[in-house]
Amino acid sequence: MNNSEVYVGLDIGTTSIKALVCESVKGQLKVIGVGVEQSAGLNRGVIVDIDKTAQAISAAVAQAEEKSNVEIKSVVVGLPANYLQMQRVHGMITIATRGQSREIVNQDVIDVAREALTQSIPPEREIIDLIPTEFTVDGFSGIKDPRGMVGVRLEMKATLYTGPKTIIHNTKKAVQQAGYDIKDFVITPIATDFNLLNDGEQDFGTVVVDLGGGQTTTSIIHDHQLKYTYVDPEGGKYITKDISTVMNTSLRNAEQLKLNHGYAMASLADKEVQVDVDVVGQDDPVQYSEQYLSEVIEARVRQIFSRIQSKLQAIHAPELPGGVVLIGGVAALPGIKELAEQYFTGNIKVNVPEQMGIRHPRYAVSLALGMYENQLSDIDRLIKQTVQRVDTIKSPHEEKAQSTNINITSQQWSEEPVKQRTQRQTQQQSVAEKPQPKKKKQNTFSNRFKNIFNNLFD
Ligand SMILES: Nc1ncnc2c1ncn2[C@@H]1O[C@H](COP(=O)(O)OP(=O)(O)OP(=O)(O)O)[C@@H](O)[C@H]1O
Ligand SMILES: [Mg+2]
Repeated sequence: MNNSEVYVGLDIGTTSIKALVCESVKGQLKVIGVGVEQSAGLNRGVIVDIDKTAQAISAAVAQAEEKSNVEIKSVVVGLPANYLQMQRVHGMITIATRGQSREIVNQDVIDVAREALTQSIPPEREIIDLIPTEFTVDGFSGIKDPRGMVGVRLEMKATLYTGPKTIIHNTKKAVQQAGYDIKDFVITPIATDFNLLNDGEQDFGTVVVDLGGGQTTTSIIHDHQLKYTYVDPEGGKYITKDISTVMNTSLRNAEQLKLNHGYAMASLADKEVQVDVDVVGQDDPVQYSEQYLSEVIEARVRQIFSRIQSKLQAIHAPELPGGVVLIGGVAALPGIKELAEQYFTGNIKVNVPEQMGIRHPRYAVSLALGMYENQLSDIDRLIKQTVQRVDTIKSPHEEKAQSTNINITSQQWSEEPVKQRTQRQTQQQSVAEKPQPKKKKQNTFSNRFKNIFNNLFD
């Protein structure tokens, strides 16, 4: 099979690594193999042990190779949105030679993108992506592809995405050490928001909540641009820890209990259904009701949703016409939609990929990574050349990652003791924390709405 038609989405998650092999036939993407391996070496979405992560990546990709019968050389790697910054940039070049206008060619697009990149980036940050918004030729704006047009002056407006060097370096290194080239780095909310949402949802505005194992990433897409991200430092792993602590059982048992008997809303669980739980220090199993188990789960999910709700209110994000789309493993919990409805406005849905073998919301990111790469336009690919040169990505001799001193303000986090938060008493408190009343419907197309999002950029 010709590898150029095959895209491998690599989602390096805190709890599992997903490698999805997609084959592009006449622009249509078909999933032909998937590999999943338990993660190692990650904490809250970020690689903290390169060797362990590299081994897990190798295992996941090897599985995907075997299932798809495709030799995998390069992968499209998702980067977490942790400490992501976005800023609007502008580039302008003169294309006239000896005062005469001429046709715009590929090199002009590269040159204007390079102009837009002449920003001073703090030493601890690195450019991840540059995504064009529009081109202007001799004052005529709103152009998506200026090539072939005639002009004297070419301008480009774009959004520049930067991330901490450490995160990018560690990801690069782990993938290379696993033995694969990086075809592209894609910020995961960019991949998911652009590929799992329809045109209207991307245009009018939608919130996407990725409920992962180690963290929960909320993003807003509006006007076909990623406008906001918030990374909450809790996810499914913390639900499992809570169950383990409250029921005095191993993490492995707690995980199975969650997967087989858990609900996000305890009121949906049947209190008559009892489950045998192996308890540490006791010979005989203890019986707990599914409802009791679900109360533990609900308390943690409520805390996550409540923080996201406050963040959305803090940026005055009104009800978005596209509503809220839930993805990530935790979105598979029965009752998650019903619980989310108490915190967020608009239509709420869980995105589950339709393809056989990946019908679970935890595959949404890896699928979106493959889809993202498949739908890139020639212009996108030209501009990417200015940001990520293949030789840089392939080089085995990477410069040592510089120490980061990043302003992490809104994302800074100190972990509260799990026990403190998971005692029965705390659960009741948390359950009692009523979600704030839903906002009244507003005119979603008001100028105020537009301005809010315009101001979200640095
Ligand atoms: N049916 C289910 N019910 C409840 N939780 C589930 C279910 N299926 C998966 N999960 C949970 O989802 C989490 C994994 O989700 P996912 O694969 O999206 O996370 P990740 O990508 O590894 O982590 P992150 O995105 O935080 O780095 C685990 O905590 C797992 O227990
Ligand atoms: Mg994830």
